[in-house]
This record gives sequence, structure tokens and C-alpha cells, in this order.
Amino acid sequence: MENDLQAIVARTETILESVSSRSDWEQAKASISGPNGALTQIAKNIGSLAKEDRPTFGQALNQAKKHVEALFKTSLQNIEEQADLKALGDKVDPTLPPVPDSKGGTHPLTNVRRKIVSIFGKIGFTVAEATEVETEWFCFDALNTPDDHPARDAQDTLYFPEDSKWENVTRKAKEEHILRTHTSSVQIRTLIKESPPLRIIAPGRCFRRDTVDATHSANFHQTEGLYVDRGVTVRDLKGVLDYFLKELFGDKLETRLRPSFFPFTEPSFEVDLKAPNLGKLSDRWIEIMGCGMVDPEVLKLVDLDPEKWSGFAFGLGIERVAMILHGIDDIRHFYQNDHRFLSQFSNAS
Ligand code: PHE
Repeated sequence: MENDLQAIVARTETILESVSSRSDWEQAKASISGPNGALTQIAKNIGSLAKEDRPTFGQALNQAKKHVEALFKTSLQNIEEQADLKALGDKVDPTLPPVPDSKGGTHPLTNVRRKIVSIFGKIGFTVAEATEVETEWFCFDALNTPDDHPARDAQDTLYFPEDSKWENVTRKAKEEHILRTHTSSVQIRTLIKESPPLRIIAPGRCFRRDTVDATHSANFHQTEGLYVDRGVTVRDLKGVLDYFLKELFGDKLETRLRPSFFPFTEPSFEVDLKAPNLGKLSDRWIEIMGCGMVDPEVLKLVDLDPEKWSGFAFGLGIERVAMILHGIDDIRHFYQNDHRFLSQFSNAS
């Protein structure tokens, strides 16, 4: 019988050599020390031994039990260790260069947008937002832009197929959906929702069918501004823009308004600026944005009485501001996600 015990211990050792999973281990354990296991069976035979042999056998049985238990314990530890290692994946290679531990920062366009919003925030302008998918009415008709205007051409604007559905973009009529070509559509969406007096700034993404080159991108960003109140004049427009541009580019800045044309402002202007601190662009007139007094036709279209209300609007490219501010000469840099470029303008630690 004691030989049998040794045999069971030896068998346990052999079985455990090929056990590699928890379930194999459970099975092996059951076959040795479970209710029907070999050790349990042999223990039951103690009754058939001569009385004087029983204590010796009992001792041997206990020893065998302890031995087997220890074998199972070690085996289980090994199995768990292997499972942990597997879960941890490949071994770490300490010779590899470290992952940079910088925290990352915001994109230069985000920084410029936030700066613009904060400058206007100081004089009471709040941020308005609207959808990037627009309807022709909001992007053109309501902005007094006639049917034969070039912006209406499929060569200039990205149209969606006629049957495309944009349930969250309110429509005025059965018209086509487009990707907005400018943020000026937010002027209309705001004027419909809110009543004057109002002051909003509307930064956002715009889309045109431009061939990409150093100064054009089919996808770019603008900031719209709109101010509607009683008795607003060109002097207010100039005052607000001068304040804004000086905050952005510095006190030494000069500005001038040049007559221009936009269908939704009358009169309309281009704003030029000149400053001594703009690197290669210093001390010469640079065009920065379009603006003008809100056209009475636009006010009428949103049911405002032009005798009572007047206002100004402006729109400027966020990329353009960032390029002038940082001396960047190619708009494509903004969209290539090249860390060497981005980190130069980063606010990361
Ligand atoms: N929406 C015009 C553009 O994209 C800019 C503009 C906005 C001009 C507001 C006048 C008033 O060119």
C-alpha cells in the first residue's frame, strides 16, 4: 500500500508536467485528491489493514497528501504566472528609445481661434455656432446673393446630391444642401433665432472647391462677426476692428478700409493692416478681412425693420491670421499633422 502511495505521488508529478491551463489543473486535481481521486480511494482502504499497520499507513498517507498538495500548489502558481505574462504581452525591450513624455498641446489654429474669441469676448461678443452643412437659402439667398453669383456655381461650391437628407439642417424651401462656403450663414441663423441688439462671433469650418496650393485649401476656417443694434455706423465698425486687430497684432498697427463689394453688406470694405513687427510682412499693407454694414435687404429678409435696426458684419480667415502672426508661408502645413511644425506653436509643456 505504501508503494501505491509513492506511485500516486509519482503519477501526480507526471500529470502536472503536461498541465498548462487552469481547467487541466482542476481535472488533474480531481483525479488525485477529489472525492473519487486516487488518494481518496486508497485512504478508504485503511479499514482493510491489520490494526497494527494502520498508524504507519496513516502517517504515510498524510505525508503523501502533503506532498501532492504542495505539487498542486506550485503547479497552480506556475499556471497563473504564465497567464499573467501572456496578458502583459511581449517582453519590454529596454534598449528601445523612450516614448516622448510631452503632454501635447493645442493646434495653432485652435490657439488663434481662442485668441480671437477671447478678444471679442472682452467687448461683449458671444460665440454662435451653426451647422457646416448648409442650405442654399442660408448660405446665399438670405445673404442677398443672386442666382447668377459665381459662388452658386458647382465649380466653386460643394453641393450634395439632391436626394441627400440632413434632417438637422432646417430648410426654407425645397433647395439643395451644400457645405457652407463661408461662416456668413451663421449671421442669418442667429438673426432668425435671436432679436437685436446682438453681438456674435462665429468661428467655424468652411469649404470651397479650391485646388489646394500654398494659399488655398478646400477646407479652411473663418470667423464671422455680427453686430446689430440701433444707430450702428461705419465708425463703430472701424473702432471695433481697430481694437481687435491691435489686440491681435500689437499697438503699432495701422489699418485702412478699402471699398469693396459683398452682396450682403452695403457699403462693403476690405480691411488692410500694416505693422512693424510682422517679420517679412512688416511695414506694408496686407489685406486681412472683408466687412461692411449689414445690407438693409438682409435685415428685411429676417423681418427686421432697417429703419430701426442697423449693423455691421465681418469675416476673416483663421488660417490667414495664423500665417501672418507666425510668418507661415504655406497653408498646407496646418493640415499635415507634422509634429516638427506643430510643436513650434505649441502651448505644450
Ligand atoms: N463672407 C465673406 C467671405 O467669405 C466675408 C465677409 C463677411 C464680408 C462678412 C463681409 C461681411 O469672403
